[in-house]
Amino acid sequence: MLIKVLGSGAGGGLPQWNCNCANCSRARAGTDGLKPRTQSSIAVSQNGEDWVLVNASPDLLAQLRAHPDLQPGRSLRDSGITAVILCDAQIDHVTGLLMLRERTSPLPLYATRPVLDDLSSAFPLIPLLGHYCGVEPHPITPGESFGIEPLTGMRFTPIAIESAAPPYSPHRNAPVAGDNIALLIESVATGARAFYAPGLMHASDTIVTAMGAAQVVLVDGTFWTDTEMIDLGLSRKRGTEMGHLAQCPANDRPGTIALLDGLPSTTRKVLIHINNTNPILDPASDAHAIVREHGIEIAEDGMELQVQP
Ligand code: MLT
Ligand code: MN
Ligand code: ZN
Repeated sequence: MLIKVLGSGAGGGLPQWNCNCANCSRARAGTDGLKPRTQSSIAVSQNGEDWVLVNASPDLLAQLRAHPDLQPGRSLRDSGITAVILCDAQIDHVTGLLMLRERTSPLPLYATRPVLDDLSSAFPLIPLLGHYCGVEPHPITPGESFGIEPLTGMRFTPIAIESAAPPYSPHRNAPVAGDNIALLIESVATGARAFYAPGLMHASDTIVTAMGAAQVVLVDGTFWTDTEMIDLGLSRKRGTEMGHLAQCPANDRPGTIALLDGLPSTTRKVLIHINNTNPILDPASDAHAIVREHGIEIAEDGMELQVQP
């Protein structure tokens, strides 16, 4: 099973269009080794031809241009993307659906009921796409595994997580189960398993168990500290208020580094959905060194992960 990181950045990417923070300025200038990052998305395949897109980034077209192997030439109009799975209805995970409107058949879209509801009302992408290619919605339920034709041998298990519904959602301050999911992606034939959670605020026992069952864990790398945006004067909100657990401990609770430290040493651990303010993006920073000392990788656009049992 192969995972391609199409976009490793959080909302806004790196550099963010209107940001002059240290990371964005240096990434824009091309100095100090800060690599630009597009917004959050991965593609998964077992045969290297049929791919599932997990989250559809606003940067999707640039990401597809950067990955010509997602574009097989089987017919005049063709795409390797057979279906899309959504982890939530956040702008950085769904806006790319609009870029798929030239499809010649309805887009198979796998998402929970609350996410499909948000995308049918508050942010009505689904009815809107009805005027273009159309959407074939497949409601998914946390805890219930599903397969996707023609990806025989691949299983996907959504796991309800605590994070946050988008700011535009009626669920933003009244969360319901399924607003956000983590995904366990499995090759039934080989036993290869990957865990993906670009937004994660709290690791329940179920989440820890799912992470422990995977050979590759891709997890929320948004913030280094819970107060990062406040400290920079960029927001009044803590990371946890936005649905993201930071790498460092906060409020007497362990952070993502401690969470990943609890996994087997053989597990490949990767931080993804990294906000442009996060110091780990600077290869010369202490934060970067600390993360690497813990055996944790920092996702980059274009990164490929072979998942093997
Ligand atoms: C988030 O991950 O918190 C959101 O995607 C932020 C955003 O929409 O930009
Ligand atoms: Mn996001
Ligand atoms: Zn910035």
